[in-house]
Amino acid sequence: MRLAGKTALITGGARGIGAAFARAFLREGAVVTVADLGATVHDAARAMGARGLQMDVTRQDSIDAGVAQAIADMGHIDILVNNAGVYDLAPITDITHDSFDRLFAVNVAGTLFTMQAVARHMIARGQGGKIINMASQAGRRGEPLGAVYCATKAAVISLTQSAGLNLIAHGINVNAIAPGVIESDMWDHVDALFAKAEGLPIGEKKRVVGQGVPFGRFGTPDEVAGMAVFLASAEADYVVAQCYGVDGGNWMA
Ligand SMILES: NC(=O)c1ccc[n+]([C@@H]2O[C@H](COP(=O)([O-])OP(=O)(O)OC[C@H]3O[C@@H](n4cnc5c(N)ncnc54)[C@H](O)[C@@H]3O)[C@@H](O)[C@H]2O)c1
Repeated sequence: MRLAGKTALITGGARGIGAAFARAFLREGAVVTVADLGATVHDAARAMGARGLQMDVTRQDSIDAGVAQAIADMGHIDILVNNAGVYDLAPITDITHDSFDRLFAVNVAGTLFTMQAVARHMIARGQGGKIINMASQAGRRGEPLGAVYCATKAAVISLTQSAGLNLIAHGINVNAIAPGVIESDMWDHVDALFAKAEGLPIGEKKRVVGQGVPFGRFGTPDEVAGMAVFLASAEADYVVAQCYGVDGGNWMA
């Protein structure tokens, strides 16, 4: 019960890694609100014993309303996980403004302005807090077809470093997690995009990438959740502005 008495808001929490974080936080005794795009977030939340919130992190009015509602529902927010994210790929010569704008709107602006809204609340409340941003191994390297996604996750790592240094003065710890390759709907989408771009059968990219992980396979969302629980807990009070890999050794290799 490392999060007993704590409240958490998790964006993009209806499925995948965000949902695994929500289940882990609930097991550790937290009250959890999962925020996501569609109305189905309410069913997903109910199934896991969390509260559901419809929120689009690319819209300031939606962030403001969502954060206000989470505060009204839970009383306050101790923990924010900026987990909502989207992926796309293209060679440099084919990147479009639409794809660039969409990825930066969700992954970078969504992370920054949700963090800002929750940090204002945490500062006003005066009891500190924990903010966890979802980066990626992709933010620590280039990938031939992943220029824009890699750039967004590099930006998330950079925002985490600056926000971490800025907000620790208020007792708010900001840190990031850089997963490697994790089983999720997002990776099924990635596999389908690679199949199209490289003329591969569906599932082939995933098979080859999984074999290349030093651990020997993809990770599961639950295998990333322990790091989130640690960073959300009092055990991480002295951890500031860091980005931790959870990747079966993939980035190091
Ligand atoms: N799966 C991986 O291998 C992997 C690796 C590294 C990093 N990540 C990162 O982890 C996070 C979660 O990834 P996942 O694999 O669970 O992805 P996912 O696609 O399964 O889940 C992402 C969730 O974010 C939501 N979302 C998208 N746009 C949103 C918006 N504008 N507002 C609110 N919610 C929005 C989606 O509806 C979805 O529920 C992402 O930030 C992703 O970039 C994933």
